[in-house]
Amino acid sequence: MTRALGEKNTTHKKLVSWIDEMAKLCEPAKVFWCDGSEMENKRLCDLMIESGTFTPLKKRPGCYLARSHPSDVARVEDRTFICARTAEEAGPTNHWADPGAMKEKLMGLFKGCMKGRTMFVIPFAMGPLDSPICKIGIEVTDSPYVVANMRIMTTMGQKVMDKLGADGTFVPCMHSVGAPLHPGQKDVPWPCEPDPKNKYIVHFPDEPSIWSYGSGYGGNALLGKKCLALRIASAVARREGWMAEHMLILCLASPEGKKHYVAAAFPSACGKTNLAMMQPTLPGWKVTTLGDDIAWIRVGKDGRLYAMNPETGFFGVAPGTSLKSNPNAMASISKNTIFTNVVLTPDGDVWWEDMGVPAPERGIDWEGNEWTPGSGKKGAHPNSRFTAPASQCPVIDPDWQNPEGVPLSAILFGGRRPSTIPLVNEAFDWEHGVFMGSACGSETTAAALGKAGVLRRDPFAMLPFCGYNMGDYFAHWLSFPQRTDRNKLPKVYFVNWFRKGADGKFLWPGYGENSRVLKWICERIAGAGKAQRTPIGSLPAGDALDLSGLNLSPQDAQALTSVDKEGWKKEIEDVEANYKKFGSHLPAALGEQLRQLRQRLEQE
Ligand code: OXD
Ligand code: MN
Repeated sequence: MTRALGEKNTTHKKLVSWIDEMAKLCEPAKVFWCDGSEMENKRLCDLMIESGTFTPLKKRPGCYLARSHPSDVARVEDRTFICARTAEEAGPTNHWADPGAMKEKLMGLFKGCMKGRTMFVIPFAMGPLDSPICKIGIEVTDSPYVVANMRIMTTMGQKVMDKLGADGTFVPCMHSVGAPLHPGQKDVPWPCEPDPKNKYIVHFPDEPSIWSYGSGYGGNALLGKKCLALRIASAVARREGWMAEHMLILCLASPEGKKHYVAAAFPSACGKTNLAMMQPTLPGWKVTTLGDDIAWIRVGKDGRLYAMNPETGFFGVAPGTSLKSNPNAMASISKNTIFTNVVLTPDGDVWWEDMGVPAPERGIDWEGNEWTPGSGKKGAHPNSRFTAPASQCPVIDPDWQNPEGVPLSAILFGGRRPSTIPLVNEAFDWEHGVFMGSACGSETTAAALGKAGVLRRDPFAMLPFCGYNMGDYFAHWLSFPQRTDRNKLPKVYFVNWFRKGADGKFLWPGYGENSRVLKWICERIAGAGKAQRTPIGSLPAGDALDLSGLNLSPQDAQALTSVDKEGWKKEIEDVEANYKKFGSHLPAALGEQLRQLRQRLEQE
C-alpha cells in the first residue's frame, strides 16, 4: 500500500502518543509526518515559494533565498536556558531556570501556538545511523523552512524512523515560531515572535528534551545542531565518557601521502568553515573535509581519540566567503542550497559583501528593499547564511561518514585575537592543552545578537554551547589521561590567524597560507619540526615554519612567533578573573597551570 505524503509512518507507540499530546497542546490545523523524500521536499519548497518564504534562484539549480524577520537573525544567547536540576549544575556561564517553573511557562507559550499552521514531525539522526554514538531526535515544528534545512543538516526521514523501530529512544525536540494564524489572518513570509524577550531556547539535559519558541533562525530552530549535538550531547557525553565539541574536522595529507586528522575549536564566525575546506598553498599538501562545526569525540578500541561529524550539511556564514577565502565552499553552494538574508541580484543569483565578485548595480537587500552598493548600507546581513549538503563539497573526505570516526593527531584551539597570542603555540602536555582550551577568547562576531568586536572568554569555543557547569566540563577534559594511555592523546595547539600590527592590518595572510602552520604541526607530530620552548608553550623555532614564497617581513614573522611578555601578564590576569566564576568547580589542575605559567613568565 502506498503512503500518502505526510501520513503517519511509524508503529512507535510512545512517539505516536507524544505527538498526539503535542498536537492537543499546540492545536495545529494538521499534522504532517516527514519522510525526507525528494517529493516531500519539492512539495514543501513549492508551498514556501507560494507563501513568499522562498524565492527560487534562476542561476543556481535547486537553490532558494529566504529573508528572515529583521529581529530574527542570530542565536539568542540571552534567551537560551539550561534547566538542570540546580543552578549550580548549569554553572555560571549558562542561564538557568527551574525545570518545573520553565515547563509551566512553556506549556503556556505552546498552548495553541500552531493554530492555523501545519505541525511537521521530523525524524532525524545526528551521526551516521550505524555509529555507536548516533543519537535520534524527533523535531516537531510549525516551520517548513526548518524542515527543508533539517533535511540538509541531518540524516532525516524514513530511514531514521525505520532505525527507531517500535521502541527506540529519541530526544523530543519541540519547536514553534510562536505565530499562530487566526481565521482569515494572512500569513507573512517569516513568521516569528518579534519580541526578543519572548523567545525561549530551552534545554532539559536530564530528560533530555529541547523546547524552542519564537525564532525560526538556524541555531535557535534547527534543533539537531547547537541544541542537541552540542548542549544536550555535551551533558550526555559527560555521563557516557565521550566529548561533544564545537570543532571542525579535517584531514591533512602530506606530499608523501601521510594523513593526519585534525579537529579545531574556534568561536562562531571565526573561520572554521574556511579552515575545514582550505586549499593549501604549499605544493603537494592536500586538505579534505570531514566537518565544519561539530565533532563528537570518543576513545577508540586502539586507545586513540576518534572524531565524527554528527551533521550532514554546512550552515556557513555567507559574507566573506569567496573564491579567495574558500573556493570549496563556493563550489558546495552552487546547487541545492538555501540562502538566508543575502542580496538577491536582478538575474536571480545571490550576492554578499566580500564575495569577491563585483556587487550588482542594484538588487534586493536582506530586508527585502531595493538596494544599491552605493547606499552605504550592507546588502547582506553580517550573519547571513548558506545551508548546503556536505556531500557537495569537492574536497569531502571519503571517511566523513565513517561510523567509527577518524583518529585525531592534533586538536587546535583559536579565536580572533588582534594582539598577544602567537600564530601557533604547542602545549607541553594534555593538561597544558586543556588550560589553553579553557583560556580561549575571541572578539565577538555577528553570530549571536549583541555587540560585535569585544574580547570575551569563550573556553573551548563552547561558551554558548556547554550544557552543564563549565568547571565540570574542564574536569571532564582533564579526565582523558585516565581513560586512555596519555601518549595516545592528540597533541594540542593554540593558533591565531588574526594578529594585527601597529597599523591595524593583519600580520598573517591566513586562508590557504594556514597550511604552513599545519605543516609545522604535522612535522611536530612526526617527531621532527623544530620548536623553541618558551614560558607560554613551544613555538616554531627561527626557521621552522615554511615561509617559502611568502611575502612576510622578518619583523612580522618574529612578532607572530615570539612571546609578548607584557601582553601575557594581562592575559593571565584576565584568565584568572574568568576562572573565579567557577568557584569550587574549577579543577585544581587549571589553577596550577595558571600559577606555573605566571612563574615561567616571571623567571624569563
Ligand atoms: C553556528 C554558530 O551557526 O556557531 O555554527 O553560531
Ligand atoms: Mn558554530
